[in-house]
Amino acid sequence: MERVTLGRTGLRVSVAGLGCGGRSRLGIGNGHDEWHATRVVEHAIDRGVNVIDTARGYGTEAAVGRAVRGKRDRVVLSTKVAPDRDGRPLSAAELVASLEASLDSLGTDYVDVLHLHGLEPEAYPRAVDELLPELKRQQHTGKVRFLGVTEVFARDTTHGMIQQALVDGHFDVVMVGFNLLNHSARRSVFPQTTERNIGTMIMFAVRRALSRPDALADLVAGLVADGVVSAEDVDVADPLGFLQEFAGVKSVVEMAYRYCSHEPGVDVVLTGTGDPAHLDENLEAVMAPPLPRALTARIDGIFKNVDSVSGN
Ligand SMILES: NC(=O)c1ccc[n+]([C@@H]2O[C@H](COP(=O)([O-])OP(=O)(O)OC[C@H]3O[C@@H](n4cnc5c(N)ncnc54)[C@H](OP(=O)(O)O)[C@@H]3O)[C@@H](O)[C@H]2O)c1
Repeated sequence: MERVTLGRTGLRVSVAGLGCGGRSRLGIGNGHDEWHATRVVEHAIDRGVNVIDTARGYGTEAAVGRAVRGKRDRVVLSTKVAPDRDGRPLSAAELVASLEASLDSLGTDYVDVLHLHGLEPEAYPRAVDELLPELKRQQHTGKVRFLGVTEVFARDTTHGMIQQALVDGHFDVVMVGFNLLNHSARRSVFPQTTERNIGTMIMFAVRRALSRPDALADLVAGLVADGVVSAEDVDVADPLGFLQEFAGVKSVVEMAYRYCSHEPGVDVVLTGTGDPAHLDENLEAVMAPPLPRALTARIDGIFKNVDSVSGN
């Protein structure tokens, strides 16, 4: 698996990272048990993935902890703390308790990247004032190596929070929504992350819209109805059916991960799955050559004005 440098962290990371959240949560979201979840993580590590992204809120930290036992120095662990609780802002003491619980579940005494999880644009200033000092204290203790922040792409589809984070540069890593339907981060995030050497992990490469044909058709019908996508450019019943015209591209899911992995400015493409066979396919897709230019041009032409959906 190809390795890249995660921005100013200097961490060497696989271009494909395992996402332990999303709908699948390593299969737990589909009814599998924690042992199955652990096997999915072990399988990813065996295949050369070294970035594992989880969160206190996913309920998958213990499964990750079991899978990395004895291999801690070979993996880059990324986890998260929610910036609020029960509808009110988190206190610094609660942040510390959440980190300690993460360390305990993960069976480690440090995490490589600790993110503020799903920070809304309007919550950013308070998080910087009240939580950042504690995050820095935890960095000094050695329990956290680098600081990250993740957006709520389902609502913040134009990256309002990340743009604030890029101005002040407090965070070493950002987790950003990006996919072939909404590639607005190409304009408003990646040029700045590249210039400032901020590590970039992307999420939502596939999500629901690009893994379920019915969801894609519904989403595109809505975009056409709103005048964001032209009805002349797209077959609403099968919006990406034209991929069959391109030899060597087998499925929408493959196209979706390949679309992301060659995007300038993207360090890590997260793939979230509870299915080892899907994981194998997805790693192959991330590692595959760039899509044919004519195919990306067609996609970009159809969805050029889209910045209001995440593909959730
Ligand atoms: N704000 C945040 O911090 C935030 C929000 C969302 C996500 N994330 C992180 O980003 C990661 C990636 O997001 P995501 O999990 O939504 O991932 P994703 O990779 O965009 O999509 C995952 C979905 O696609 C399906 N899928 C994956 N491979 C497939 C294949 N080959 N064929 C058919 N279906 C396939 C999965 O179901 P199967 O299980 O059936 O494969 C799952 O439902 C998360 O796991 C999490 O770590 C962070």
